[in-house]
Amino acid sequence: MVNLLPSTGTLLGVILLARHGDRLDFFQDPFTYDPSATELTPLGTAQEFQLGTFLRSTYLNPKNPSTFITNISTDLANIDQLIIRADAAGEGNIILESAMALLSGLFPATHNFNTTLANGTTVVGALGGYQYVPIESVEPNLDISLNSFTSCPNFDVHTLAFYNSSEFKAKAQEAAPFLNKLQPFAGNRSIDFTNMFNVFDFVNVQMIHNKTFFDSLPPTFAAQTQALGNFHEEGVFTDNEAGGIGNVAIRTILPSIFTSLTRIANESDPLKLALNQISYKPFISLFNVTQASANHPEIEGIVNYAAVVSLELHKSPAGSPTVFLKFKNGTTEDNFRPLPMFGSAGIPLNEFIERLAPVAINTTAEWCKACNQTTLRGCSA
Ligand SMILES: *[C@@H]1O[C@H](CO)[C@@H](O)[C@H](O)[C@H]1NC(C)=O
Ligand SMILES: *[C@@H]1O[C@H](CO)[C@@H](O)[C@H](O)[C@H]1NC(C)=O
Ligand SMILES: *[C@@H]1O[C@H](CO)[C@@H](O)[C@H](O)[C@H]1NC(C)=O
Ligand SMILES: *[C@@H]1O[C@H](CO)[C@@H](O)[C@H](O)[C@H]1NC(C)=O
Repeated sequence: MVNLLPSTGTLLGVILLARHGDRLDFFQDPFTYDPSATELTPLGTAQEFQLGTFLRSTYLNPKNPSTFITNISTDLANIDQLIIRADAAGEGNIILESAMALLSGLFPATHNFNTTLANGTTVVGALGGYQYVPIESVEPNLDISLNSFTSCPNFDVHTLAFYNSSEFKAKAQEAAPFLNKLQPFAGNRSIDFTNMFNVFDFVNVQMIHNKTFFDSLPPTFAAQTQALGNFHEEGVFTDNEAGGIGNVAIRTILPSIFTSLTRIANESDPLKLALNQISYKPFISLFNVTQASANHPEIEGIVNYAAVVSLELHKSPAGSPTVFLKFKNGTTEDNFRPLPMFGSAGIPLNEFIERLAPVAINTTAEWCKACNQTTLRGCSA
């Protein structure tokens, strides 16, 4: 058993990928992944707040020296040390709202957020000193990076090829008897196997929010539905080759990861923490391109609400800064587990970039070409 925990060295900073919290019904076209809008629930805000609190106790707590980010401002947020971005595509406002809820746990209100006026009065900020850390709302028509799998014709070709594969057809056949039994619980959603994400999502949302449904669904059905949903999404959001279009969801995020890690490695640069609030799709592609899932089939599939991935940059006593990957699958799990990338516990930053740069999609023009998109999302320019 390899020890995956970095035993020495200081933590220079982290890149975080966080999924949004619990939401209401959601539907996406199984052939294009065109989404419908939905709403974040009170539970969703609680999950994100809990995730923010967890991240604060991990990375902003000097009492945990092995995971404390050196020189980060812990009480008063220093916005020069932070980059916060949220995918504003697909699911309506829920990802942006999730980032707000996460930040309220990461940087809670503090009376130290105050100011003493010329007349001698000290004023604490609104809501007991809540700090309004700015979030960049990443608009899909202006920036393809956080939601690059929609309006991408070659991605649709890839998805259809997966649906036509013998692997997919065999799984569909195996699943058919179960799906027939599930049909009365699938609302009006088609139980055609191509629609498996939407079937899973319907059941998942009902199981969380509808007591009648919860009381009537046979015991194993929810887990069976998730396993089939996992198979479906794993096939759609991975590819046989890291540089395949099936991995587009992470390939367009990689450039900002490289830039942020490089900035964090430069200790005269203030950046310490970059958060990308996203959907579940880039997680699947990330685990595929870094080969994290190669020996860990249990991390294949749809991550839970408020799941988080961290790329930690540690300064090793001798040698170059090293990247470590950690993952926590939502709020019900407290195991923030290290995962190997390319079969090793930690990868020197230069090697991490060298291995992944060839699959990165760096510009909108590169994305247009990779997708064969010629008109939408800035591709006509
Ligand atoms: C000082 O100024 C603030 C803001 O204008 C005001 O609310 C406060 O009452 C003033 N305090 C005194 C002692 O005048
Ligand atoms: C809750 O589940 C029951 C049983 O499946 C269903 O009849 C009802 O329409 C559901 N309610 C809502 C609000 O979805
Ligand atoms: C990526 O996923 C594809 C499709 O599931 C699989 O064939 C390939 O082996 C995966 N690659 C890695 C490195 O896990
Ligand atoms: C996250 O947890 C769900 C529910 O337990 C499971 O089905 C899924 O495979 C897990 N995903 C990952 C990526 O570990």
